[in-house]
Amino acid sequence: MNNIVEAALAARENAHAPFSKFRVGAALEDETGRIFTGCNVENATYGLTICAERVAVFKAISEGARTFKRIAVAADTDILTPPCGACRQILWEFCGDIELVLVNLKGKTETLRMKDIFPRPFDESFL
Ligand code: THU
Repeated sequence: MNNIVEAALAARENAHAPFSKFRVGAALEDETGRIFTGCNVENATYGLTICAERVAVFKAISEGARTFKRIAVAADTDILTPPCGACRQILWEFCGDIELVLVNLKGKTETLRMKDIFPRPFDESFL
């Protein structure tokens, strides 16, 4: 778990957040132990901004990873920053009920499961 926490904190350093100044890092571990990182990448239109979590998921998928164990999310907040609603949907669809490790710069961490922050999801079972 320390690996992904460190990786999320390091990824946060690459955040492109000139508008919000709110820097986020994520690190997603697949079943083989491979780690895929992401940071938030903002856009002048604001709406095209993509969160750290989705960058990590899409990088992993594009590299061929398909089964995941856990994700760490790092931000500089006292109340640990959880994934936004859009990221919850994407995380659920691609990763399912994985472990979610929230962390801040003071070393505070909290481990949750996706199903606890994303109850009653809409997914492919409805289609
Ligand atoms: N953001 C993330 O990258 N992940 C989160 O979990 C929360 C929000 C980003 C999006 C935007 O660049 C900035 O944080 C402020 O919302």
